[in-house]
Amino acid sequence: MTGGVNLNILVTGGAGFIGSNFLNYSVPKYPQFNFINLDKLTYAANLLNLKKIEHNSNYCFIQGDIVNYEFLSRIFEKYKPEIIIHFAAESHVDRSITGPAEFINTNIIGTFNILEACRKYWDKSDEKVFHHVSTDEVYGSLGDTGFFTEDTGYNPSSPYSASKASSDHLVRAYYRTYKLPVKITSCSNNYGPYQFPEKLIPLMILNAVESKPLPVYGKGENIRDWLYVEDHCLAIWDVIKKGKTGEAYNIGGNNEWKNIDIVNKICEVLAEEMDVDSSAFKKLITFVKDRPGHDYRYAIDSTKIMRDLGWRPKETFDTGLRKTIKWYLQNRKWVESIKTGRYQEWLKANYDKRIIL
Ligand code: NAD
Ligand code: DAU
Repeated sequence: MTGGVNLNILVTGGAGFIGSNFLNYSVPKYPQFNFINLDKLTYAANLLNLKKIEHNSNYCFIQGDIVNYEFLSRIFEKYKPEIIIHFAAESHVDRSITGPAEFINTNIIGTFNILEACRKYWDKSDEKVFHHVSTDEVYGSLGDTGFFTEDTGYNPSSPYSASKASSDHLVRAYYRTYKLPVKITSCSNNYGPYQFPEKLIPLMILNAVESKPLPVYGKGENIRDWLYVEDHCLAIWDVIKKGKTGEAYNIGGNNEWKNIDIVNKICEVLAEEMDVDSSAFKKLITFVKDRPGHDYRYAIDSTKIMRDLGWRPKETFDTGLRKTIKWYLQNRKWVESIKTGRYQEWLKANYDKRIIL
């Protein structure tokens, strides 16, 4: 990255959870860069996420689909982006199990289209970055020990993770074959404000507040490594600015939790914030039929990004989780905006057929 002024940065999927946190942080922080947010506005997107920056002069929003190559070409011709940060994806494992087609279209074909547009429009002599935002799920599942490093072989389990693995392979192939200046980050589970409540943490918070069951898959013994979303965004900036072209960087929180322990912790922090007894929430915990192909454990070895780029997470899990819970309690307008018929349909489709264990 040149560090020059007036760079045009194309952010795909910037109205979703991580993309909007990235833009809310980056747009005021880097007034010298122009941020173009291209998003299809699927169910997971919300323009309310971007209220704070929508009038900033270095920000604009364009609704569009990365699966449409002609549309992408027009964006490249008009804005001539020098940096692309590619968040856009179908991101929910359970939805990929009930309906994989969209995951193939957006995550594989959509990524392929952006790579093709870069190949066509980018001058090889220029300093550019195509930053591909990927996931630790491409590595598959760990047992009780060990960590994913950048050299761990790919072994995805769900249609979601297989589609992300496929897009990673395409990104690497474009580096090796065409010398396209790519960078890849593979991050563990994010949490924080603006996360759509189909994912574990916001689903549990909102269900508990409404005294609805807290559905824990299987025995709740699966393990995830949780990272506050803004720490992920800072890591992406470190890689864009200082990371090596053609390389991948793992990002994790060194913060492993069993699902059941995290659900209990949410109940406790929520009870403190609402000044009630946590048993009122804990009694809602319901063990339900497991996710098919459920990966047992994810754990990231972040040595490379910490050693080579100096990245460190800033938020502890205690502070980050409390901030997140407060955010969902204080942002009722946002919460109401996602409670659409489509959301209720998803809850019905995913949970009604899960036998209670
Ligand atoms: P999200 O589902 O909240 O948001 C995805 C965004 O992409 C939405 O705004 C949606 O409208 C947009 N989008 C979907 N299809 C599109 C299309 N065809 N064209 C244009 N825009 C489209 O997802 P997220 O949790 O913010 O994840 C963002 C990225 O980070 C994804 O690539 C995901 O694989 C990756 N990731 C997520 C996590 C996590 O814990 N959430 C962890 C590691 C990596
Ligand atoms: O690891 C990174 C990945 O983390 C990202 O690539 C994905 O986009 C993101 O969705 C996330 O995937 P997970 O499947 O790990 O996240 P989710 O929040 O859906 O589930 C977390 C764990 O909680 C998982 O073990 C399944 C379990 N779970 C989830 C839900 C929604 C439950 O027990 N009950 C639930 O209702």
